[in-house]
Amino acid sequence: MIPSVLPTYSRAPLHFVKGEGSWLVEEDGRRFLDLGSGIAVNALGHAHPALVKALTDQAQNLWHVSNLYEIPQQQALADKLVASSFADTVFFTNSGTEACELAVKMARKYWYEKGQPEKTDIIAFSGSFHGRSSAGIAAAGSEKMVKGFGPLLPGFKHLEWRDMAGLEAAIDDNTAAVLIEPVQGEGGIRPLPDDELKALRALCDDKGCLLILDEVQCGMGRTGRLFAHEWAGITPDIMMVAKGIGGGFPLGAVLATEEAASGMTVGTHGSTYGGNPLGCAVGCAVMDHVADPEFLAEVNRKAGFLRQKLEGLVAAHPEVFEEVRGSGLMIGLKCKVAPADLVKAGYNALVITVPAADNVVRLLPALTISDDEIAEAVTRLDLAAASLEAA
Ligand SMILES: Cc1ncc(COP(=O)(O)O)c(C=O)c1O
Repeated sequence: MIPSVLPTYSRAPLHFVKGEGSWLVEEDGRRFLDLGSGIAVNALGHAHPALVKALTDQAQNLWHVSNLYEIPQQQALADKLVASSFADTVFFTNSGTEACELAVKMARKYWYEKGQPEKTDIIAFSGSFHGRSSAGIAAAGSEKMVKGFGPLLPGFKHLEWRDMAGLEAAIDDNTAAVLIEPVQGEGGIRPLPDDELKALRALCDDKGCLLILDEVQCGMGRTGRLFAHEWAGITPDIMMVAKGIGGGFPLGAVLATEEAASGMTVGTHGSTYGGNPLGCAVGCAVMDHVADPEFLAEVNRKAGFLRQKLEGLVAAHPEVFEEVRGSGLMIGLKCKVAPADLVKAGYNALVITVPAADNVVRLLPALTISDDEIAEAVTRLDLAAASLEAA
């Protein structure tokens, strides 16, 4: 008999009942160090007092009002995002997938309104992940994601990750946009080097197509800058954000320049819940922390400390690990063992990690993790690796 919850997930037998900062408490009382943050969602850790206050204050006043009316919390969050980024305008969604849908629509509508309706193609890359909607799976294009779900949304082309030469040849008169994650998350924590992102921006400008960045996983302070593309000193035309922006409350956004958004006029897009008062009140509190340069400086310092400890871990377990890679507090441990085995050994050592493609285990701790917690996390990972060696 089919379970009452549609069985699309392979779940670990863990029942967390409470979260406190970087810690998750199981119903049996065990305390796990959480290096997953709900896959890069709980950017300020669990139950951060500022987020709890923002949510509960808002909940006591107004939960929902339609986008038929003004929503001051939405306006405030949009103003903060515009003030801290390349963007001139923001549309709020409930998730990264919905942000992907709008990013694709926006790019196509831009060219349509410019009198170039043939420019509809979106070029994306192997190993990417942009969500599970029809546009999201068509964009990712991997067999695993699309098999059995055809006919696929047309107009997506795929290149190998970092195939810059191929990209130059692939962008043609029908290309609306290039869509890319500055640091691939699900694909195995694969950062695009800064010079390649710079070259990609220049190529899009030369060839006349838009650049869409998917910063759903790597944005919101995760890499030590508010947005990952800042490291390369470039700006996109359109950017997708989600996960960390709500700190655990479902929230996403599309940020765009005035030019790129120019086709999106009244009636061209909408959402019942997107930009609701609860989500945006929390989003404002998240932004007040992660957009603060001192907060980001701390993320970078802690990322350096964690990286150094992980280099030691990898050196100590050459049969388990191949390398450490990533950016800021978005880290991949490339493994020689099956990632699922290391994640499971981590559960036994009371540390939570997340598997990814390319034989990688992801570490996406709360950006608020302390030095002591970092040291403890690496001790627990060391125990997990040792248990695999002993097996
Ligand atoms: C880079 C990227 N884009 C899009 C998504 C989809 O976001 P959501 O699961 O919020 O719909 C994800 C989720 O993992 C992601 O990592």
